[in-house]
Amino acid sequence: MPIKKQELQFIKELYGTKARLLWSGYLRRDPVARLQLEPGRLDPYPLYEQIRSRGRVSRTPFGHFVTVDHEICNEVLRSRDFGVGEDARDKSLSLLDLNPPDHTRLRRLVAPDFSVRTIGRYTPRIEAVLQNLIKDVPRDDPFDLVSVVAAPLPIAVIADLLGIPDADADEFARHGTEFGSALGGIQSLAHAQRLAATRKRLAEIFAGIFELRRKEPTDDVVSRIVNSDGTVRPEEMVPLCTLLLIAGFETTVNLIGNTVLALLSNPDQWRMLVEQPELAERAIEEGLRYDSPVQRTGRLATADTEVAGVPFKQGDWIMTAIGGANRDPAVFTDPARYDLHRDNAEDHLSFSGGVHYCLGAALARLEAGIALRTIVTEFPELALAGPRERRPGSLIRGMQHFPVRAPRSAVMV
Ligand code: HEM
Repeated sequence: MPIKKQELQFIKELYGTKARLLWSGYLRRDPVARLQLEPGRLDPYPLYEQIRSRGRVSRTPFGHFVTVDHEICNEVLRSRDFGVGEDARDKSLSLLDLNPPDHTRLRRLVAPDFSVRTIGRYTPRIEAVLQNLIKDVPRDDPFDLVSVVAAPLPIAVIADLLGIPDADADEFARHGTEFGSALGGIQSLAHAQRLAATRKRLAEIFAGIFELRRKEPTDDVVSRIVNSDGTVRPEEMVPLCTLLLIAGFETTVNLIGNTVLALLSNPDQWRMLVEQPELAERAIEEGLRYDSPVQRTGRLATADTEVAGVPFKQGDWIMTAIGGANRDPAVFTDPARYDLHRDNAEDHLSFSGGVHYCLGAALARLEAGIALRTIVTEFPELALAGPRERRPGSLIRGMQHFPVRAPRSAVMV
């Protein structure tokens, strides 16, 4: 079949962008390009420091701006003079790709379902899912913390919240990885095809649930979306539910994994938590700051404006590198250190800010806090057990496989 003009254009743009990235990253060793390549996937933190040394805001090789400055990131994310658009992100991620008033219209409808109060009701369910997962953990033999605990927990909880019956954790984890890696830009034609197949499959799953909820509405968020009397347009329903589903687990899995890794890499901090499991929420907050599951986002200036004395023109695009802002020494003392007792860990920007502030922050904190408390209580002698495999892509940071071991003798202590 001959390639259509549109497809040819897509291929040209895709590989043109990739070639520019490779050129700037590997030949010119530009840190912003390297962030989006293998060096950024493996360890973005030295790259953030290189970017910081260039000034509070600097130019990228692609003519955009970049910042790892906490104050500037925070202000840009909250400013009404900046919106979403024009970055490499795949369009159609619902709320994430919308500006007010469309954004406000959709967000208002679903926000009550994610408030601290509503989410608190899920505590018993989260504890029950965890106990069920923990009982399968092999004693003495190494196991993969990601596939055994960190991934299936948030999948089960968000599937429950959206009323998806018998959610297949492995299948959803695969869909999540496709979407997650697409957030940092489509990598190849094969990647675009896999993403299209994932979208189609999720649309099929949701079509069945929508039909059910139209006929028999319940008190859940999907019933509110499909019976919203036009607040949500028909073409907005699948993208909105897809976002809630994918955002609901794709990031939380990494919050659990990254925090456990930080703790096991700092044995004094792990022991402190073993002795005081009630510090689990603090440990998660510092985990968010120290190794953010979402490393960056971006904003487009919608008007000529100024942030912390830096002028921007309408149409300027800026990469707000959250992971770098979370290690800004102007805000965090000794920022490269994981410190359970840091008194301002919650000043991190890992949930972004402004109108796009993470809708699921309360759910993520609750799930990860309970998960960490359970892990540290059940497996006080947990230890690293071999090399870890990082996820593909550098925008979402976490492990694909995380081998650990929970020695039997210690479990009985
Ligand atoms: C550790 C876990 C999580 C992290 C680090 C995280 C991070 C983020 C970030 C950084 C954004 C904003 C991106 C931007 O400003 O461009 C965001 C938005 C969002 N998150 Fe989360 N998230 C997490 C968990 C969740 C969960 C559990 C849900 C549950 C549904 C969720 C749902 C959403 C939604 C719907 C948005 C879009 C909000 C909007 O545009 O108005 N997230 N999240």
